[in-house]
Amino acid sequence: MNTPVVELQSVGKTFRLADGKDRSVLEAVNFTLNEGEIVSLLGKSGSGKSTMLRIMAGLIPADSGSVLYRGQPLFGPADGISMVFQSFALFPWLTVQKNVELGLEAKGISAKERSEKAEAAIELIGLSGFEGALPRELSGGMRQRVGIARALVMEPEVLLMDEAFSALDVLTGERLREDIMELWETGKIPTKAILVVSHNIEEAVMMSDRVLVFASDPGRVRDELQVTLVRPRNVESLEVRDLIDKVYGLMTAGSARSGRVTGKEIKLQLGDRLPEAEVSHMEGILELLVNEPFLGRADLPKLAEETEFSDEELLAVSSALTLLGFVHLDQGDIIINPLGEQYVQANNAERQVIFGKQLIENVPLIAYIRQGLEKDPSGDLHEDMFIRLLRFTLSEGAAISALRVAIEWGRYGDLFEYEFNTGTLNMPKKEETSEE
Ligand SMILES: Nc1ncnc2c1ncn2[C@@H]1O[C@H](COP(=O)(O)OP(=O)(O)OP(=O)(O)O)[C@@H](O)[C@H]1O
Ligand SMILES: [Mg+2]
Repeated sequence: MNTPVVELQSVGKTFRLADGKDRSVLEAVNFTLNEGEIVSLLGKSGSGKSTMLRIMAGLIPADSGSVLYRGQPLFGPADGISMVFQSFALFPWLTVQKNVELGLEAKGISAKERSEKAEAAIELIGLSGFEGALPRELSGGMRQRVGIARALVMEPEVLLMDEAFSALDVLTGERLREDIMELWETGKIPTKAILVVSHNIEEAVMMSDRVLVFASDPGRVRDELQVTLVRPRNVESLEVRDLIDKVYGLMTAGSARSGRVTGKEIKLQLGDRLPEAEVSHMEGILELLVNEPFLGRADLPKLAEETEFSDEELLAVSSALTLLGFVHLDQGDIIINPLGEQYVQANNAERQVIFGKQLIENVPLIAYIRQGLEKDPSGDLHEDMFIRLLRFTLSEGAAISALRVAIEWGRYGDLFEYEFNTGTLNMPKKEETSEE
């Protein structure tokens, strides 16, 4: 019954990092995109979602396994597959019309046909009248519409959208999404299948026929959920809320980034990523959790609503709190531990001590930095040292991010100080100025 459009069979991808080491980003990814379906792909930052999309679009090759488009091996960009990027990737010196025409031009289509097709795509996406505008004259939402028109003008059979809405404010993103859904449902575009990478669980459930959850390090499809609800879907309906709940459960199962899950515990290694959670957000969630109406246990979607955190932020905060032993997660619920309660009751000085202790015990990178400083309390350590260390296992961006998180947390736990101007870490100064 299902007609496959694009198939990934046991696809693997390894990137060489700057230090010459190889890092496996995708491993044995199996996935089939069928005719008539919209599939959402959810997963942690860095889990390889964009890499998978770029492989499906033929923009980069897989290292192992095979990619089939309509049953044929895919080599290089395919005519029927278009991709929309998060960063609008428009040429600033070209008008809207010219930006949309680019792909057609590359295919050698005549000027007249190009201009007709581009105009039609521009109209379809609601930008009529702006053909002559330059990207900088447009709002973010309109710029992304140009990005989408540029994909649609190719009349793609497969549309791959990589967080196409996440650079936009919530309302703008929602409106654009609704417009695309309308084009899809009314058959105004020839597109047969859509794959959307998203960080927004609600968006995924509202749009898709299937939701895939990606696991990290290396990336692979960990779970899959069918969404059989009829459209249009009511975001307030029990069925939708229930599915959102389920997806949260899938996303938090064995969570905290690449942490190894042993029973209920998550143990990090020195070279692992850290969830990008701010301490103030972590404390905010703990405080919310102990109070009415949650009284120690909350449904993550409800908590997302209450805090207005994005799913990404909330999942990062939950991962961080889990990692530090303040909460545990159970099927999409977050439940406070005795230590978490103790933390909320504590005053600031006590909180700092608890936080610092949990960091040393649970975050090897922070323990390692602290040890380094203790060995030579007079000296400073430069952050570059630690970046270089992390580069053995992480890409540059991920290494910088992990160290940034470690520094923020470590400073808060009074384990070390950080000199912004010089990029050095040192031991906290003793409270010699205690005149207050
Ligand atoms: N060209 C490249 N060279 C080296 N490493 C790369 C390259 N492209 C991606 N990576 C690394 O591969 C991993 C997966 O990246 P990818 O962009 O696919 O993740 P993602 O799931 O899309 O993340 P995000 O949600 O942040 O967009 C990351 O660690 C990234 O740094
Ligand atoms: Mg990405």
